[in-house]
Amino acid sequence: MDAQALQDEALAAVAAAETPAELDEARVRYLGRKSDLKLALRDVRDRESGMALNAARMAIEQAVEEKQDRLERAELDARLSSERVDVTLPAELIARAQGRPLRPRRRGSLHPSTQVRRDVEDIFLGLGYEVVDGREVETTRYNFDALGFPSWHPSRSPRASLYVGDDTVLRTETSPAQIHKMEAQKPPIYMVSIGRVYRRDTIDATHYPIFHQFEGLAIDKGLTMADLKGTLLYVMRALYGPERDVRFRTHYFPFTEPSMEPDVSCPICGGAGCRTCKFSGWLEMGGSGMVDPYLYEFVGWDPDEYTGFAFGMGIERTAQLRMGIPGIRPFWENDLRFLRQF
Ligand code: DAH
Repeated sequence: MDAQALQDEALAAVAAAETPAELDEARVRYLGRKSDLKLALRDVRDRESGMALNAARMAIEQAVEEKQDRLERAELDARLSSERVDVTLPAELIARAQGRPLRPRRRGSLHPSTQVRRDVEDIFLGLGYEVVDGREVETTRYNFDALGFPSWHPSRSPRASLYVGDDTVLRTETSPAQIHKMEAQKPPIYMVSIGRVYRRDTIDATHYPIFHQFEGLAIDKGLTMADLKGTLLYVMRALYGPERDVRFRTHYFPFTEPSMEPDVSCPICGGAGCRTCKFSGWLEMGGSGMVDPYLYEFVGWDPDEYTGFAFGMGIERTAQLRMGIPGIRPFWENDLRFLRQF
């Protein structure tokens, strides 16, 4: 057996092996117990051919080892690049590429207050109103003084309102947003402002120390109560259906004169009378009125130049009626079994 010829043949086989399995096959064939080389080594008689055969064995072993390293590295590279996940791909594509089913995910939903808030914004944007932000922490100047609350008014009491300082209070209504807008801009003003308000109320079915209001303000030349009523009629129909009617009851608010409480014909029974409307056919919907000239003076305008109207209503109350939600507590408990229904 010619050691050199054997080595050449073995090295060629090792070089040709493309997978670990092929390499193993070559190793067994040329280095295994029954390989020509091993058999020849067993029968070796002279020193010279022994050295030649051993040299061939070492060369082949080294080639196999090197080749094994190379194949293992190539295999690792291939695995790393094929198993790499591009996390920016849509989950659906990744699942398909990996040949597994896409687990359906439960989609979140908007809180009922948020849904109504957005509907209200849409309605007023459709009327050409601007949506403006207010401030949740207000000075007593904006929350009370500017709005005509006399110094003795019970709302000013720390027993009624949540103070965060001597002259700062968590706003008790969204109406202060009117003053900020009037200070920032001359008429025409058509704005709506939606947000949280705070009162020191004890929690029961219809009261909670935090809730949302939406506040509308329109100031222009020549606006009348007919504009107020027409606007509220439009908004109530947009919120509660085209059959709705609106009526006014006289009332008092420090920042409107005259002041009215609007009622909407009951959307549950259509006005015939039911438990929701306490069999009156009408539901109270908040407050409204013609902007008191005092407010124009407060921001330094001529009170004879403009007229305007304002209104304020509860978001949760609106959601209760539209979605059939009983009471105010579920709005703030964040019970997913409740929230998932909307
Ligand atoms: N801010 C009043 C409240 O919380 C509601 C209200 C009444 C708002 C009359 C107005 C308005 O803009 O003109 O009870």
